[in-house]
Amino acid sequence: MTTQSERADRIIIFDTTLRDGEQSPGATLTVEEKLTIARALARLGVDVIEAGFPYASPGDFEAVQKIAQTVGIENGPTICGLARATKNDIKTAAEALKPAVNNRIHTFLATSDIHLAYKLKKTRQEVLDIVPEMVAYAKSFVNDVEFSPEDAGRSDPEFLYQVLERAIAAGATTVNIPDTVGYTTPGEFGALIRGIKENVPNIDQAIISVHGHDDLGLAVANFLEAVKNGARQLECTINGIGERAGNAALEELVMALHVRRAYFNPFLGRPADSTEPLTNIDTKQIYYTSRLVSDLTGMVVQPNKAIVGANAFSHESGIHQDGVLKNKLTYEIMDAESIGLTHNQIVLGKLSGRNAFRTRLIELGFELNDTELNNAFLRFKEVADKRKEITDWDLEAIVNDEIRQAPELFRLEFVQVSCGDHSCPTATVNIRTPDGQELIDAAIGTGPVDAVYKAINRVVNIPNELIEFSVKSVTEGIDAMGKVTIRLRYEGKVYAGYSANTDIIVASARAYLGALNRLYAALEHKKQSSLKETNPQTQADPLAIA
Ligand code: KIV
Ligand code: ZN
Repeated sequence: MTTQSERADRIIIFDTTLRDGEQSPGATLTVEEKLTIARALARLGVDVIEAGFPYASPGDFEAVQKIAQTVGIENGPTICGLARATKNDIKTAAEALKPAVNNRIHTFLATSDIHLAYKLKKTRQEVLDIVPEMVAYAKSFVNDVEFSPEDAGRSDPEFLYQVLERAIAAGATTVNIPDTVGYTTPGEFGALIRGIKENVPNIDQAIISVHGHDDLGLAVANFLEAVKNGARQLECTINGIGERAGNAALEELVMALHVRRAYFNPFLGRPADSTEPLTNIDTKQIYYTSRLVSDLTGMVVQPNKAIVGANAFSHESGIHQDGVLKNKLTYEIMDAESIGLTHNQIVLGKLSGRNAFRTRLIELGFELNDTELNNAFLRFKEVADKRKEITDWDLEAIVNDEIRQAPELFRLEFVQVSCGDHSCPTATVNIRTPDGQELIDAAIGTGPVDAVYKAINRVVNIPNELIEFSVKSVTEGIDAMGKVTIRLRYEGKVYAGYSANTDIIVASARAYLGALNRLYAALEHKKQSSLKETNPQTQADPLAIA
C-alpha cells in the first residue's frame, strides 16, 4: 500500500461520483449500480473512492459496506465514507467501512461565518473545540482521516489556519479545502492554498486536498491553480456531476495534467521533460467510465463537453478537416485513443456463443451474476439477429439496459403502436404489476411515444411530470440501437430511467417504466417508513451499532 508521503509526489485522485455526484437531482443509484460504478472507478485507477454518506440512509450504509467488501481489496483503492463531525455519523461510517483493506473517514464542519451564524449556530471557539475532538474520534477507528472545513472558500483564512492546525494535530492525514458554493476564482483559490501551506505550522504532516463546485464554471481552473500552489489531492466526479452545477470533472483534470504534463511537472519538483505520469489514472478507461456513469445516472453528457462530449474529437469545419487530414497536430491536442475512444470495433456476431459473450464482458469490466448474464445474453442474441455485427458500445448498452431495469416492479410484457401520417398514433401496452397481475391498456397521443406513455400511465397510475426525454444512437448506421434517457419529477424529486433497443419505441417504453419503477419503489419505501413510525414496536434502526 502506498503511504501518504509517497503519494505526495504525484496527484491523488479522489473520486466522489458516488457521494457528491449522487446528490445531483435524479442521479440516485441502486446499490448494484453503485457497485458497478465503483468497480469501473477501480479499473480507472482512482486512488480513493468516496462511496457514500453511511449515516444518511440504510441504502447508503449498505452501498458503502458492499463497496468496501468487494472493491476495497488489497492493492485496490482506499474506500472513504463521509461523516458530519458528530459521533453517530463517524461511528456509522467506521462500521460501514470496516471490510475495506484501506479505509478512510472523511469528516467535515463548516468554518465560514455565514455557515456558523445561520446553519450551525455555533461560535468560532466551539468549532475550534469540536474539530480536534471529532478528528481524534475518527482516528480511534481508522488511521486515514480526512477533515474538510466546509465553505472554506468563503472562510476567514486566519481562522481556517487555526482549525486546520488543530485537525492535523488531532490526527487528520488529509485536509481538504472545499469551495462549497463555487465562488472563488483561480487566483484567489491558488492564493488560499499557498496561504495554508505557509501559515499552518504542521501542514507538512498532511496532504492538502481540494474540492469545488462549478457554479461559475471555474472548478477545474481553480484546482489546477491549487496544484501549482501545493494541493496534491483532487476531489472530482466523472462527467463533473454533483450538487447544483456539479463538481470539478475528473476527466478534465486528468487530461489537463496529462496533456500539459511539461507545464505542471516543475510544480511537483520534477524536470519539465519527465515522462512519469502525474496521476495513477489509466486514461484509456475514461470514455468507458463516462458512458457508464451517464447511462446509469441518466445524466446525459452535453455534446460539446470537454474530453467526453460526442463532439469533443469531431471536426466539422472544412478548414479544420483539411488540416487534420494533413497532420492531426494542426487541430488536435490529444488523441481520441488516449481516452479509450477506439474505433468502434466489431467484436461479436450472431454466431458468437455464450463464452465469447461472457469473455468480452469481463474484458469490458462487467461482472454479472448468472441471472443477469442469461438475460443479457438473450438480449444480445435478439440484437445480433437484427444487427449481425455487435460492437463494444452495443454490448455496453445491452448490459447497462439489463442492470438499469432493477428494481423491475412493473414489467413491460409488450408494447405495440400504430402510427403514420394518416392515422392517429395509438399504443397498446401489456404490463405485469408488482402483485403479478397482467394488465392491458391502450391510449392515443400526439405521437407514438406520447401514446405509449399515456397507455403506461393508465396502468401505473402515478401522476408525474416528464422533464427530459432524449434518444441517442449507440453506434453509427441506420440499424443502430437507440438509447433513451428519461427524467421525471414527482413532488420535487427527480427519477431517471434508461433503456437501449434497436426499436426506439420499445426503448422509450422501458426507460419510462424504469423511471416509474424507481418512483414506485421510493413511494413504497416512504409508506413502509411511516408505518414503522406509527408502530414503534416494529421500529428497528438499521444503522444501530451494538
Ligand atoms: O462541497 C462541500 O463542501 C462538500 C464537503 C462535504 C466536502 O461536499
Ligand atoms: Zn461538495
